[in-house]
Amino acid sequence: MVGNDPLYTDPEFAQFYDLENGWGDDFTYCADLAKCAGSVLDLGCGTGELLATIAPKRAVGVDPAGAMLELARARKGGDKVEWLQADARHLILEERFDLIVLTSHAFQVFLTDEDQHAALATIRRHLAPNGRFVFDTRNPARKAWEDWTPERSLRRLSHPKLGEVKVWNDADYDANSHIVSITAHYQPASDTRVYTAVSRIRFTPQPELAARLEAAGLAVSSWMGDWQGCQYGKDEKEIIPIGRLAG
Ligand SMILES: C[S@@+](CC[C@H](N)C(=O)[O-])C[C@H]1O[C@@H](n2cnc3c(N)ncnc32)[C@H](O)[C@@H]1O
Repeated sequence: MVGNDPLYTDPEFAQFYDLENGWGDDFTYCADLAKCAGSVLDLGCGTGELLATIAPKRAVGVDPAGAMLELARARKGGDKVEWLQADARHLILEERFDLIVLTSHAFQVFLTDEDQHAALATIRRHLAPNGRFVFDTRNPARKAWEDWTPERSLRRLSHPKLGEVKVWNDADYDANSHIVSITAHYQPASDTRVYTAVSRIRFTPQPELAARLEAAGLAVSSWMGDWQGCQYGKDEKEIIPIGRLAG
């Protein structure tokens, strides 16, 4: 169920998130956009690194996962941000923002057409007349899930308290729904336990996303294929719309 993923809601799993999801090209791109924004809304903000670092005059981070927000609040700069435990599909704030972002593929947590429409309607509802939105979703044509096998995904991370943690994934792609169920396994060297959680994400083809954005009243000014700013093409890794309110 959307917003109920143990990877994010369970502190035992949330503690692993920042080990491999630090500052990247997506944050750099959004930080540049935020330079001309007085207010920024981050939907699915997770552990909050982006907002806590860029600290615009007004920053609101929204996430249903309390365990992720705990980490966001505790981080340096976290006190400059308003963190709201809420579902992006149902958010109603009496406020509009100059920039609205969803980073690290947070948009893929919305699993049905209705969920995606609701999230896009939230963007429309909270975007200032000259405001901009940007988010990323992995291009299904690149079949990222084929790399999420135990052999190909095995990596070793360093946890500040648990020491070395062996991590690997399994994934199962459903061609009808375009939903991938990913199993994540974390095995700290200092522990006999293996922490295992399943999460689900949806892969949406670009034409379908374009139609859904238009239906939600959002106009895309440019489609990128990566966070370095390359134009979107059908074989690019990412699908990244940047836009404004339509009309
Ligand atoms: C892949 S993480 C991305 C976190 C963050 N944006 C980043 O860049 O690190 C996806 C986030 O979406 C959040 N999420 C799940 N369902 C959501 C919903 N219905 N509304 C808003 N956020 C949601 C999860 O709790 C998680 O923190």
